[in-house]
Amino acid sequence: MYLTREEERIYDGEMGWAYQVSMRILVKLGELYGASRLIPIESAHISGVSYKTVGDAAIEFLRALSESNGRVKVRATINPSGVDQDRILSNILPSDLVNRQMEIVRLYEEIGATLTLTCTPYYIETPKSGAHISWAESSAVIYANSIIGSWTNREGGPSALASALIGKTPDYGLHRPENRQPSVLVKVEAKLNSEADYGALGLYLGRILGEKIPLIQGLPGAGETDLKQMGAAMATSGMVPMFHIDRIGRSAGGIEKITVDERDIIKTRLDLSTSSGRPDLVFIGCPHCSPNEIRLVSELIRGRRVRSDVRLWICTSNFIREKMREHARIIESAGGRVMCGTCAVVTWLKNLGVETIMTNSAKTAYYARLLDGVGVIFAPISECINVACQ
Ligand code: F3S
Repeated sequence: MYLTREEERIYDGEMGWAYQVSMRILVKLGELYGASRLIPIESAHISGVSYKTVGDAAIEFLRALSESNGRVKVRATINPSGVDQDRILSNILPSDLVNRQMEIVRLYEEIGATLTLTCTPYYIETPKSGAHISWAESSAVIYANSIIGSWTNREGGPSALASALIGKTPDYGLHRPENRQPSVLVKVEAKLNSEADYGALGLYLGRILGEKIPLIQGLPGAGETDLKQMGAAMATSGMVPMFHIDRIGRSAGGIEKITVDERDIIKTRLDLSTSSGRPDLVFIGCPHCSPNEIRLVSELIRGRRVRSDVRLWICTSNFIREKMREHARIIESAGGRVMCGTCAVVTWLKNLGVETIMTNSAKTAYYARLLDGVGVIFAPISECINVACQ
């Protein structure tokens, strides 16, 4: 892999350990995937923020980066943590977990990351279409590639962090136009009635597609929330980094074809629901809510009250909550919480006394059972709000 003179000096450690280790991560990746050079990036988005998922090793690594004066070179946003920014969860969770979580966030701040604490950084600042970026968080990667049109590989936390410090990424994979083409045609023959159906479709497709990029036909009415849910789910059960939506009936000869019908969606939805009891937590906001989703929840909840035996969390970024403060106020005065900086997957549900969660997110439905062993009820947002309210 070709390195400029300056990149070589970083590689050899002349700028210190933090930049050397970051450069070595990027060069290793580049060599592994056949990149010929590094290219500049517009931004990085770093996952690996929740102590629940990264543990003590991340604290040690971040501390070492910070102590050797590692600082980000481009805008670097970070994913949600295990606690909310209003410290409501911090008062309930064991202090040891909270302290370690706060230390991770503090270290990210020290190395210069912007504390967005959200998995939808594109609602705060949208990357340019065609811009090269280095993003981790699979739901944000698939959204950026497919809906925004910016270019990123499906980075892990360490490689996105390394890219943030160097300001570059190896030029391979989805940074090359020839690798962004669809290799499978998906014909959706099922009628999709809600964002939950789109999530179920995504989960079903992710299992079949693996890493392949699909061209999807049969979704003429899909809105932004629908596609966000579908993409997040597809990137959960599979490694899909991008999808194309065909709204004009392109002919796609010479590639594999898959058909999805009603039964596939119904079965996936049924499989995601493991409980038929009452939820003690209703969670909306995986991926974190857009302004439109906050507005929708406020309209659904206006004039009602959240039941005393259910918690209602609407998760988003601080930025979006502030922007939508009137709608957030309606939700909170009905007894819901517009919670920032965290989500039901990256916090500790069992420690918070949650046994059964209800959600409109296929991604959360998938992970809540796997990671926390809680019961799951999967349903569209309108049903979720109906169950949460009296
Ligand atoms: Fe975001 Fe948490 Fe879902 S980080 S994508 S809300 S699992």
